[in-house]
Amino acid sequence: MTDWRDRIFCEDALAGLARIPDAAVDLIIADPPYGLGKDYGNDSDKMDADAYLEWMEQWVDAALPKLKANGSLYIFLTWRYSPEVFVMLKKRMTMVNEIIWDRRVPSMGGSTRRFSSVHDTVGFFAKAKDYYFDLDAIRIPYDAVTKKARSRSIFVGAKWLELGYNPKDVWSVSRLHREHKERADHPTQKPLEIIERMLKASCPPDGVVLDPFMGSGTTAVAAKRCGRHFVGFELNTEYCELIAQRLAALDVNDVEAATVLVDQVKSVPEEI
Ligand SMILES: C[S@@+](CC[C@H](N)C(=O)[O-])C[C@H]1O[C@@H](n2cnc3c(N)ncnc32)[C@H](O)[C@@H]1O
Repeated sequence: MTDWRDRIFCEDALAGLARIPDAAVDLIIADPPYGLGKDYGNDSDKMDADAYLEWMEQWVDAALPKLKANGSLYIFLTWRYSPEVFVMLKKRMTMVNEIIWDRRVPSMGGSTRRFSSVHDTVGFFAKAKDYYFDLDAIRIPYDAVTKKARSRSIFVGAKWLELGYNPKDVWSVSRLHREHKERADHPTQKPLEIIERMLKASCPPDGVVLDPFMGSGTTAVAAKRCGRHFVGFELNTEYCELIAQRLAALDVNDVEAATVLVDQVKSVPEEI
């Protein structure tokens, strides 16, 4: 039964994850509250350090069984808790990469007692060594000038020269500003460029991505744009409506457009 697919449930992920059968999703993209006190219209980012880390462990243990055997997980963190969370995850999965998302924050004074922090720390973990990974889908093509500069005979016919290069583990992508067309009303909305790279690399076409903390719904929008299925959770009903709008805007003629549940769901059904 796949009535959980292509749906956003407006409820606590910790409870809602029981809706999804085990070993049913190809990829988890998790962008949980950072533990920095941000305002998501609820208290989800107001836990103290111990409670926050305990909660991280709880939802990770509820989410990981949903992954297929060759599935993987990307998790957005900041330097404050990435050390503890990486240690916790390394007890459960194989760490593949630490990706630095350089948010391209403009230089404007900044901190005076330390270096200004302008990046997210993203962990990429796999359930097993034969995890799905399609590098060709995310190669970055060379521009003509660079390609010419690498045209010495030893490089002729090199696949990477023809198809493009590996995006490496430092991703320099601007955070979203008002002038960006995709910008929605959410304090920590992620750029589609980042989420789509994760999806194309780590979720096969027609596969399913789970995002326990949908926020403005970037993962759902990216999944729809890339021909993947999604499922996710979000606590704030206003954000759930925002997700519905973003999905509807993708294809106004698509009557099969994803169903978004905006009702608060108090309990999880025993059967799925
Ligand atoms: C960092 S934001 C996600 C942003 C999202 N990646 C985007 O691009 O818009 C975290 C979101 O998780 C939601 N949230 C916090 N605790 C939650 C929980 N237990 N279950 C479901 N959603 C939760 C918050 O309301 C917030 O919108």
